[in-house]
Amino acid sequence: MVEETLLGVNNLIYPLFIEDGNDIKTEILSLPGNYRWSLNLILAEIEECINLGIDKFVLFPAVKEELKDVTASYSYADDNYYLNAIAVIKKEFPQISLMSDVAMDPYSSDGHDGLVKNGVILNDETLPILARMSIAQAQAGIDILGPSDMMDGRIGFLRDSLDHAGYSQTSIMAYTAKYASAFYGPFRDALGSAPKNGDKKSYQMNPANKREALIEAELDYQEGADMMMVKPATSYLDIIHILKENFDIPITAYNVSGECAMIYAARQNGWLDYEASMSEMLMSIRRAGADGILTYFAKDFAKFVKNS
Ligand code: PBG
Repeated sequence: MVEETLLGVNNLIYPLFIEDGNDIKTEILSLPGNYRWSLNLILAEIEECINLGIDKFVLFPAVKEELKDVTASYSYADDNYYLNAIAVIKKEFPQISLMSDVAMDPYSSDGHDGLVKNGVILNDETLPILARMSIAQAQAGIDILGPSDMMDGRIGFLRDSLDHAGYSQTSIMAYTAKYASAFYGPFRDALGSAPKNGDKKSYQMNPANKREALIEAELDYQEGADMMMVKPATSYLDIIHILKENFDIPITAYNVSGECAMIYAARQNGWLDYEASMSEMLMSIRRAGADGILTYFAKDFAKFVKNS
């Protein structure tokens, strides 16, 4: 009765990594219990998660190096295995909410989220590429688009492009306040998506800035975002809090790979009680104001809730 914050499996979105091929289940060493799956095996994993009460997933593609190019053209290619996987998963499990990643980096030979020319990220030239990718994902049946690229103006550009293409029902969870963080390391290793040159500081936010998050949020909100995300989560609880206080749409947070890896490592060393520390971390993100949390702990948390 006096507990102020409720945390349940319903608040969680489970990230899954997929790669092209058959019978693949490769564990990501820095995220034990998380795997790169091929389509035929990911279906059983999703079913297992559904049985634990998880009904929201975000799907990230690992793309073979030889399919990457400067314009990320594979991201909307007709024979793209990720788009096919979206269609198969949604057909198999129409009841789940499936979220995508919209950014160039998994498909870009430069490993950046935008188009690179002479070492500079070209913001406006990137937008039509993101729009093609988004329409292709919407066409495949994705429920929620997740633009993680941080180009300026992309939410409005994507919303217009989607509406014109007939996908007004596809929603957008904007990566609104995404910081240039060191905590993305294990994710980039899992997908082989690290930038080949330079860093992402010209488009991702400076960890020192809080008021700037309000500017980013104001833009995404005006441009038509349905939900706004803060990323990472635990080092940015104050950012989650101010967005929740200032905007009346759902606020989500990404409990990123590096944050989870710290707890996994402590568990392996016997330094922390895994279930207790993982639950406390998720609760703190909820308490800060996140309605939804993207977290690699989703499945273990669901098992923990079920068994306790
Ligand atoms: C890239 C993207 C990243 C993550 C999600 N989408 C990495 C990056 O910006 O370099 C990180 C997620 C995580 O660390 O768990 N578009």
